[in-house]
Amino acid sequence: MSKIPVSEKIKKCAAATEAAFDKFVPATNTRPAIVHEAMNYSLRAGGKRLRPALLLAAFEAFPSSNDPLPAAVAIECLHTYSLIHDDLPCMDNSDLRRGQATCHKKFGETIALLAGDALLTHALTLLADAYAATPALATDLVSELGNAASSRKLIGGQVEDTIGERGEATAERLDFIHENKTAALITAAIVMGFRLGNAPQSAIDAARAAGREIGIAFQIIDDILDETSDAATMGKPVGADAENGKLTYTRFHGMEKSRARAKELSQSAISRLKKIGGNTDFLVELVAEMSARIS
Ligand code: IPE
Ligand code: IPE
Ligand code: MG
Ligand code: MG
Ligand code: MG
Repeated sequence: MSKIPVSEKIKKCAAATEAAFDKFVPATNTRPAIVHEAMNYSLRAGGKRLRPALLLAAFEAFPSSNDPLPAAVAIECLHTYSLIHDDLPCMDNSDLRRGQATCHKKFGETIALLAGDALLTHALTLLADAYAATPALATDLVSELGNAASSRKLIGGQVEDTIGERGEATAERLDFIHENKTAALITAAIVMGFRLGNAPQSAIDAARAAGREIGIAFQIIDDILDETSDAATMGKPVGADAENGKLTYTRFHGMEKSRARAKELSQSAISRLKKIGGNTDFLVELVAEMSARIS
């Protein structure tokens, strides 16, 4: 039997998630159209869709009769909200995202702020509504995603990131930023996929440890690419971290140590995932692919 390459499987996950936007995200002509246009504009721009892919790959490891697509859409909505707000002038002040003008450049700051709020709220209500027939699952998913996005996790990381050079530059603080602004949502993607399937608690525990490592590695690579790549490849400005005085891995630890740490974390996550049982082949390949990414 010929094996489907991981890049093809990622593309399939992205296509399935994007097709599900039509069903699970309010259309652009919904009143008030301007905010729904802005939500769809940022959501439908070409992101890598790695969080939905992680969720779907985790689900494939422990499949069940549940439909994972509403959850895949929800996590991409929440991620897109975080990007819209991350790009605002009061945060990273960025003009380019996913290869197009940022939401506030296109629609103005007020609508961008509100479109972000709406995507965040929509992510949580979509989970509650789509899984209403299985209330325990719905509660678990809402709790998982809501907690990952909370002031102790994603927002907490964004707060410490935004303080930038005004904050204390320590390795511990840098890890806090990466663990929370990025790894929390990546962990939620895998845990949600496992919860949608019938994964045992031991797999969920392993997913939390692996997700932390995958997410920190992902943000270290993002920091590296901000110094080494170009805007056309990334679909967003490069050199922005230095310009904004950010505490990043490369700026604190240097390029060589950063590369080594990203590799070490990814390998540790892969060895954890290989031990959990279930059919984790795609999940493991996806994590390896993410650690080798160039955009
Ligand atoms: C960007 O995430 C923000 C970070 C956590 C580094 P992605 O690199 O996954 O962005 P998209 O979704 O592909 O646009
Ligand atoms: C963003 O980190 C993390 C979140 C959006 C929560 P960055 O600020 O490094 O992401 P990019 O580089 O703008 O995508
Ligand atoms: Mg930022
Ligand atoms: Mg940014
Ligand atoms: Mg970055």
